[in-house]
Amino acid sequence: MCGIIGYVGDDATAADDAVLDVLMTGLSGLEYRGYDSAGVAVANSSLALYKREGDISALESALPDGSVDGVAGIGHTRWSTHGPPSDANAHPHTDPAERVAVVHNGIIENYQSLRDELEADGHAFESDTDTEVVPHLIADALESGVDRETAFRRAIDRIDGSYAIAAVFAGSEVVYAARNESPLVLGVGDDGHYLASDVPAFIEYTDRVIYLDDGEFARIGPDDLVVTDENGTVVDAAVETIEWDAADAGKSGYDHYMLKEIHEQPTAVRQCLSERVSGLERTIDVDSIADLEPPARVQFVACGTSYHAALYGTRLLRERGVTAQAFLASEYDADSVPVDEETLVVGVTQSGETADTMTALRDATSAGATTLAVTNVVGSSAARMCDHVVYVRAGPEIGVAATKTFVSQQIALALVACELTGTYDDDLVEALRALPDQLQAVLDESATRDVAEEYLESDAYFFIGRGYNAPVALEGALKMKEITYKHAEGFAAGELKHGPLALVTDRTPVFAIVTGGANPRKTVGNVKEVETRGAPVVAVTDGCVDVERYADHVLPVPESHPALTPILANVQLQLVSYWVANRLGRSIDKPRNLAKSVTVE
Ligand code: F6R
Repeated sequence: MCGIIGYVGDDATAADDAVLDVLMTGLSGLEYRGYDSAGVAVANSSLALYKREGDISALESALPDGSVDGVAGIGHTRWSTHGPPSDANAHPHTDPAERVAVVHNGIIENYQSLRDELEADGHAFESDTDTEVVPHLIADALESGVDRETAFRRAIDRIDGSYAIAAVFAGSEVVYAARNESPLVLGVGDDGHYLASDVPAFIEYTDRVIYLDDGEFARIGPDDLVVTDENGTVVDAAVETIEWDAADAGKSGYDHYMLKEIHEQPTAVRQCLSERVSGLERTIDVDSIADLEPPARVQFVACGTSYHAALYGTRLLRERGVTAQAFLASEYDADSVPVDEETLVVGVTQSGETADTMTALRDATSAGATTLAVTNVVGSSAARMCDHVVYVRAGPEIGVAATKTFVSQQIALALVACELTGTYDDDLVEALRALPDQLQAVLDESATRDVAEEYLESDAYFFIGRGYNAPVALEGALKMKEITYKHAEGFAAGELKHGPLALVTDRTPVFAIVTGGANPRKTVGNVKEVETRGAPVVAVTDGCVDVERYADHVLPVPESHPALTPILANVQLQLVSYWVANRLGRSIDKPRNLAKSVTVE
């Protein structure tokens, strides 16, 4: 996830040297989308280009003291996916002659074949990014004699994948943009026009916006702003007025980062799958571990939410015939479990900095194991220390309670399990590809607010599930504890009767995850046990069995692969916790006593 901004002012803007100011303000409003490098380009007779590894303050100090001519510019704040954070990999990217500069949010899936083709034609590249092919394609088209807009459109025609792209040309006062599956919004101002990944970038200047649809293009000039479809036909785009102010901006209108991040899960999953799963070629390909020999055994080390993802990963591997165990990182002891050269130790850690996990990975390395980091943060300590790394690509997560990183970890582990074992499962691939839309449907239709309202005053909340649903039950309870400060416990459904049932009363709602493939009938048996003891039951179900008749509420999820319905169910549980915490007035994004990255043991 990255953030892009574009701005075209009028002559007064040029006189005030305002373009850089607007671009830098925009980047600050987008910093939540990435902060490992940033850059800007302003068009005058040539291109004034500044970019730096690091956060926006690093770029700030690289800017000239004097003025920069020009009325049109673009900017970018980066969250690395292709290539580590560096000055060279920072956007904007240009063609070698610096005729055009480009910023991009998304992933260009066919960039390698395009790059091979361009290199064969003599193009030299300066970065590791997928984006750099775009200015080269535009430059090639310009060489053929077409105008700038046609060159831009021709380049966009060649790329597959997700993108919000903006380009600015030397000697021009226009910014061109295109969108497919990555957000892009235009701002209609009095003193110029804007484009950005998100409204916070320009809310300070205008609240009138146009949301671009997939396949649409925009041309922003000093006097006009034109939206066209893929054939170049002008679209009568609706201008909407945003009702939130600059103070709310970083949260894109959501009350909390956590709620925003829950809603970003369809995008997070798309990003995690991108380039790795091809339904067409029938492949699952995680290139960073492609050369890893199938290990004799796999041991996961992780904490908290990441441990729940690890438990999920364990089951995925065992089902594929691999001996796999999950350890709480703080309890891992390489001396007391068999660890050797044939062992793969996987550290699951969204931050890549958790001290307990780092210690376990170090111990495993000393014992001769091969290590793999599954993490969200490019260049994090775990990523640098491990022999291999798979990035989960959820984008920055600001809320302390992990939400989108959890689902991205689960998806990444499903891909790792397939890659390690060389198993291609048609049903799983099909279900993975459908998952983002299904997550969106759950988010759009969720009735969790009412359920939360009904059980606000409960003594405790219990969560049960079997098989792949068991880690999700644990996660449901952890989320509830963290952000509501209420007592909550998660159990493998069959365990309830072995003790915890004593806690069940009519003041302890039980959330039962009942989905296909996880012995749902047995879980219905457990539901009956709590129901006859007076507990309210909330069933989170894909309708695979009739649990509805024993439930006070049903939170539905769509049918999917048995390994993926728990991910859909998890969204309902996240939302229940969110709404309980919201009604109780808790500090949702920064729960008491907790930190996002725990660097002490
Ligand atoms: C809970 C949560 C924590 C983390 C744990 C490990 O919402 O976020 O339980 O999962 O502290 O952190 P990472 O994944 O960064 O190693």
